[in-house]
Amino acid sequence: MNRVVVSAPGKLLLFGEHAVVYGYPSIVTAVDRRINVEAVKIEGKLDHYNCPGVKDLSFIQGTVKQLKKVYKISQKVAIATNSSFSQNYGLGSSSAVTVATVGALSQLFKLKMSKREIFDLSYKIILSLQGVGSGFDAASAVFGKTLYYVYAGKVIESIKVKSLSLVIGYSGIKADTKTIVKKLGQRYKQNRIEIEEKFIKIAKIVEKARKALINNNYNELGLLMNQNHKLLKELGVSSDRLDTMIEDALKAGASGAKLSGAGGGDCMIALVSEEKKKLVSEAVSKAGGTVIKVNPNAQGVRIES
Ligand code: MEV
Repeated sequence: MNRVVVSAPGKLLLFGEHAVVYGYPSIVTAVDRRINVEAVKIEGKLDHYNCPGVKDLSFIQGTVKQLKKVYKISQKVAIATNSSFSQNYGLGSSSAVTVATVGALSQLFKLKMSKREIFDLSYKIILSLQGVGSGFDAASAVFGKTLYYVYAGKVIESIKVKSLSLVIGYSGIKADTKTIVKKLGQRYKQNRIEIEEKFIKIAKIVEKARKALINNNYNELGLLMNQNHKLLKELGVSSDRLDTMIEDALKAGASGAKLSGAGGGDCMIALVSEEKKKLVSEAVSKAGGTVIKVNPNAQGVRIES
């Protein structure tokens, strides 16, 4: 086998952001926007990269380097990518491309890596490049569907979700996750008890949300989203734009809404009934957001050809 194509999905964090970095659980869902990575064995002295639209090649190059080192491979490869989602939305393009590259090389060199091994190596590479991160995005790209996830992959459990109707609004601002996580880290050092209290409250919300998802209890899920957002606001990671989009989504009939991810920018999510989807989407647009059409609960890393 000289050529393979493997794809991995983007993600949306439903509950538990920030607290998950401190060892608490979170809930993440994979979305149906994917990145394809093609890997081909080539002759020559250098690996070759053709990755239009990938702003930061270091995730792909770092993955090729690290995987070859671990598996003692000297064969040169050509990597080509194409993606069905913008890197600006905060849908996890870096982790998706890392996971898809690990998956593609595993397939190309017949390494027979398990999903857990793909996660472990991808998370290690992402952490070495980003310096911070709980790994939830890599887990989502590998395992797909909707996951209950604890820091560094201590627990990765699939949650059976029947349906999840969301409106997703991009705030127009690319979140700087690393800076936001580090800033909160500094505040955590200064004000540990107060912030830890909020994380514990978020963890309780995550546990309740897990049950609500299993029981298809969408009213409860909406209330929990609102409670989670209130705590994120108190942690200082929301923004005026996100808050307005969230408030307007709720006024238009969403059952619950919150920021998703690091905050400061990126996306908000609103839980809606099918009947309210149009009204809520319009409200989010009017509040300055770009509505992104993605479906949750998508498949994890997979071989395309
Ligand atoms: C960022 O998308 C979510 C954070 O919880 C960071 C992480 O879990 O890696 C803020």
